Amino acid sequence: PVASVLKVLMGMQMMVNINSELDLETAEMIAAELDLTIELKAAETLEDELITELENQEDDPDSLVPRAPIVTFLGHVDHGKTSLLDYLIGINVVSGEAGGITQHIRAYEVEKDGRSVTFVDTPGHEAFTEMRARGANVTDIAVLVIAADDGIMPQTEEAISHAKAADVPIVVAMNKIDVEGVDPNRVMTQLTEHQLTPSEWGGEVEVVQTSATKGIGMDELLETLLTVAELNEYTANPNREALGVCLESEQQGDRGVVAKLIVQNGTMRVGDILVCGPAHGRVRAMTNTLTGKPVEEAGPSTPVNLIGLDTAPGAGDRFHVLSDIGQAREIAGARSYESSRENLSGITTKVSFENFQDM
Ligand code: GTP
Ligand code: MG
Repeated sequence: PVASVLKVLMGMQMMVNINSELDLETAEMIAAELDLTIELKAAETLEDELITELENQEDDPDSLVPRAPIVTFLGHVDHGKTSLLDYLIGINVVSGEAGGITQHIRAYEVEKDGRSVTFVDTPGHEAFTEMRARGANVTDIAVLVIAADDGIMPQTEEAISHAKAADVPIVVAMNKIDVEGVDPNRVMTQLTEHQLTPSEWGGEVEVVQTSATKGIGMDELLETLLTVAELNEYTANPNREALGVCLESEQQGDRGVVAKLIVQNGTMRVGDILVCGPAHGRVRAMTNTLTGKPVEEAGPSTPVNLIGLDTAPGAGDRFHVLSDIGQAREIAGARSYESSRENLSGITTKVSFENFQDM
């Protein structure tokens, strides 16, 4: 009965009336007090009906148009991913990086030989396994960067398994070919040992020898990527509600949450309602990730920085544009409730006799 709910709330020093909305945390406390169980049926059904349907919605073949390939640079720390990308795009990010180590996942859409390509840079440091996985998840083509003077290293192997799991074509950039005394055959042998036999050796993997600092092999690398892209004919339907993935997000002072998203299908527009993991909101503004200029809409394969979400979504969270802000709020609310419960139960199950000493 309402009266007993109100009584509990008053006991919690919360002055509410019968029309007040309660957040899930409060509702849970009341339920505990009254010895009741909360079922999130409505929200779960929404998630099932709306999100699953959006994910599975088939596009009419006639609605499909070519989209930019998403090309992700993966590899061991310091092997030259950012330098290669900088060279291809004509920017200089690498010199501004703290300690020369990439700590963010970056994505840019650029024109190359009259074709759009979206490039994604990932960190090679071992601490960033998650980001490499995320990069591999959105990618169409993986560029495996291997420094010729260092060869295949632990994070190269990890990148290989991410790319294989994502089932995408791999192009190898054998970088730092300018370093004196490097032996390309050694890397080719290592590649073969990892079931990535170079095409020169009768296998299927294109290996391009590059130097990002000397500009060697860069045209060939780009050409190879464009050729692989052409063979695969990536398409999408720009005329549907957008969906895609969040690469990273952060709270930025007055601007609020800035989320870096890649649209995978559909077109996202300023004003659209979206739900992204536990976050929801209306797109207030979007900017081009390279120029920082505002954009009104973002089509398939386009990365954008987006403002308008109420809280920072997790990197790797999928986003969906919905037509109803109430539904977006409900789905987001149910997700954050679920994840807070998982965190709580995670803490309790962690305490066992074996790991008690580590706590
Ligand atoms: P993380 O993002 O930290 O994983 O590193 P990264 O793979 O992005 O490597 P980055 O581009 O930061 O390059 C690392 C260092 O190698 C820098 O000092 C570059 O100048 C240098 N470097 C990159 N490419 C080449 C190359 O082709 N030849 C030589 N000699 N040095 C290179
Ligand atoms: Mg880097």
